[in-house]
Amino acid sequence: MNILFIGDVVGSLGREMITEYLPKLKAKYRPTLTIVNGENAASGRGITQKIYKGFLQDGANVITMGNHTWDNKEIFEFIETSKNIVRPANFPKGTPGKGLIFANMNGVEIAVINLQGRTFMPPLDCPFEKAEELVNEAKKRTPFIFVDFHAEATSEKQAMGWYLDGKVTAVVGTHTHIQTADNRVLPNGTAFIADVGMTGPYDEILGMTKEAVIKKFMTSLPVRFEVPKKGRKSLSGVHIEIDSKTGMAKKIDRILINDDHLFLAE
Ligand SMILES: [Fe+2]
Ligand SMILES: [Fe+2]
Repeated sequence: MNILFIGDVVGSLGREMITEYLPKLKAKYRPTLTIVNGENAASGRGITQKIYKGFLQDGANVITMGNHTWDNKEIFEFIETSKNIVRPANFPKGTPGKGLIFANMNGVEIAVINLQGRTFMPPLDCPFEKAEELVNEAKKRTPFIFVDFHAEATSEKQAMGWYLDGKVTAVVGTHTHIQTADNRVLPNGTAFIADVGMTGPYDEILGMTKEAVIKKFMTSLPVRFEVPKKGRKSLSGVHIEIDSKTGMAKKIDRILINDDHLFLAE
């Protein structure tokens, strides 16, 4: 068994990378489950129903989200009725959508949990307590449990990886949009990476037009961040091999496709 995960898709350039490369990556790896983080898919801010359906058409099975979940108001119209989208589970009680879903892949159930960090981010319920609660719930149904931990601090993400080591198949970090080189299987069998990285504009700053970001740093004035529609592109992901008996990971490899890098898992 194996899982293909693609990190934060930003704007139309990110979506173009998904349409171009997801079918190729799926043909190469034949993943049991394909997951895409779509929190920035609509011009950097949230996701629309059309984009959500487009990702499924391109081959994604599950879409994870993050702090930008509510940025596009369309989400309120489809999140409750869409089976394949998961938003941070530690959002306040009563928030629409789900933080844990079960994907049924040819009779094999894989739990997908989305959580958000609290360090340098808006206050939320404790992601560690919520993780424990949801992992216990998922364990009743399946040994295959994937966690997208959407967080800023590498330390908080390492903490989640070690906290869940041996309890889940994988803890992958998202949100910083920069791929980290610390992919490994932890001693008790959980695949980990602090951040998968982003998919979208390559010559900008975290996917946003660099001139606006530089101006913001230099002046502190209010600046509207835009996502460019033209330019070079990058795709970031990971491929995880899983022991189909235990649900633990055997291997986690990085995927990075742009003009400077071509990392592909074997
Ligand atoms: Fe993001
Ligand atoms: Fe984010």
